[in-house]
Amino acid sequence: MPTVFVSCDLPANVAQWIDADIVVGDASGDCTRENFERGVSEADAAIVLLSDRVDESLLAKSPRLRIVANYAVGFDNIDIEAATKRGVWVSNTPGVLTEASADLAWTLILSAARRVIEGHRLVEAGDFTGVWPTTLLGKELHGCTLGVFGFGRIGQAVARRARAFGMNVIYTSRSPVALPIREGLQATPVTFDELIARSDVLSIHCPLTSQTRHLFNETTFTKMKNDALLINTARGPVVDEAALVDALDRREIGAAGLDVYEFEPNVHRGLIGRNDVVLLPHIGSATTATRQKMAKMAAENVADALGGRRPRHALNQVALR
Ligand code: GLV
Ligand code: GLV
Repeated sequence: MPTVFVSCDLPANVAQWIDADIVVGDASGDCTRENFERGVSEADAAIVLLSDRVDESLLAKSPRLRIVANYAVGFDNIDIEAATKRGVWVSNTPGVLTEASADLAWTLILSAARRVIEGHRLVEAGDFTGVWPTTLLGKELHGCTLGVFGFGRIGQAVARRARAFGMNVIYTSRSPVALPIREGLQATPVTFDELIARSDVLSIHCPLTSQTRHLFNETTFTKMKNDALLINTARGPVVDEAALVDALDRREIGAAGLDVYEFEPNVHRGLIGRNDVVLLPHIGSATTATRQKMAKMAAENVADALGGRRPRHALNQVALR
């Protein structure tokens, strides 16, 4: 019987889809790096989280490993090149988390635009004294421009919702988007410089790569509108967090809504306790339905690899064995 290491408890029992011994690494909530590495190195397959780094040194000590199934759509935590060289499949969970993730981006857009957290704090503090014409005035989204950076599945789902809010949509994308898709979304491709200059709300939906790391930095913030909202639900390091704090302090941009952080799970101290940021703990895909679908998808990828087939959501190509 093969052994499948699952780095921590998932909201579905993967044993229903995989015929293997399942070893769960983190039932107690603190899977140390050491436990994680031991689990992976002794397994035939591993289901890992986006916060679990799988690098060449770990792969080198994992002779039996046939697949690393990421429990996430993003896969910057895995050295795919090293895995490929060692004949280890890598898979992710695309598609099933698109709508949940787009909803969460919109949660941040609306919360930042309409000062939802401030309002909540005000009521809780007992400071709700009546309806006053100047209390908590926010940004009206209708007629504003939403800029989407990265126009994959999630970016497009965010754009689709923008139509219902009467926003104009512009986007920048690494790969060209088919005309019927962009016409259907009434979204206009623009250069990165146009995107940052024109967006009233700028939402990030790109993967983390060497090209996108710190793409949003001091220079970028200087070129954005002074009342623009920056939303990041993709990967923290796409934004230079220290530069973001400075830009907020200097009012070079209006507000930020963040679900991801540069040094997760640590959050820059300068982002704490202020009214112009909304902070969430990386919960883009966190709905019961989506997290269960992700578990099934990761398990199916593992079952494929263990059965000698190409995993259905493989990110690399290795020889079948
Ligand atoms: C979440 O951040 C994911 O990549 O699935
Ligand atoms: C992946 O990047 C997606 O947009 O689903």
